[in-house]
Amino acid sequence: MRKKILAGNWKMNHTGAAVQTVLTELVQTLPETKATLIIAPPFPYLAQAVSLTAHTPLHIAAQTMHWEEHGAFTGEVSPAMLVDIGVTHVLIGHSERREYNGETDRTVQQKVAAALQHGLTPIICCGETAQQRQAGRTDDLLGTQLRMALAKVRMADASRVIVAYEPIWAIGTGQTATVAQAQATCAFLRRQLAALYNSDIAATVPILYGGSMKADNAAALLAAADIDGGLIGGASLQAASFTAIIRAAD
Ligand code: G3P
Repeated sequence: MRKKILAGNWKMNHTGAAVQTVLTELVQTLPETKATLIIAPPFPYLAQAVSLTAHTPLHIAAQTMHWEEHGAFTGEVSPAMLVDIGVTHVLIGHSERREYNGETDRTVQQKVAAALQHGLTPIICCGETAQQRQAGRTDDLLGTQLRMALAKVRMADASRVIVAYEPIWAIGTGQTATVAQAQATCAFLRRQLAALYNSDIAATVPILYGGSMKADNAAALLAAADIDGGLIGGASLQAASFTAIIRAAD
């Protein structure tokens, strides 16, 4: 039985005072849950977030990282730097990084391998545009994204990854995928994991859904057989809306 995972991606939102307020409130109001809880604040607040959530069930994730150990990569952050300040997870290949920051299947592959090498848990994001879905290309595209992301991941490490399916047309639009659409695509991704590795690994790897998840649609999505959690943007920005989703997950 896979544990549920609820991860909040704050994207480029909140400055220090809000990070302090929201995380403090979150820690104080966290419901009892068996789910693994993760928050991904912007880079400048990662250390603050780690300290505010120390000795609580909350894990802190980065929203991206570089794959190299160190060097002349102005503006970048290495896996070792994240580990050094207590970050445990890292989002890799979010569609916004792919669209605005030149992230490709190839850089995703390098980042996933580097994250695992440093003991970080990669949350590998994949998803299709509305046009790609309408053209019937979703499975083909996601199959490639997943295969490329995992190309350097050996069998022994494969169960350490988290996969997040985020249909691009559902991100920040309020247009959530239907439970049937999200379940079918997450089930497809699980079959791909079985084909790439084996059925045990496919049964172990958590697959999250992301895209306009809110308290009022979370319970139905999270009840689907192959949806093991949520990657939540807007609704993770305030403690009350995130805790409402945590409650809906149980
Ligand atoms: O990574 C989370 C995400 O892209 C979904 O955002 O605002 O639609 O929940 P949102």
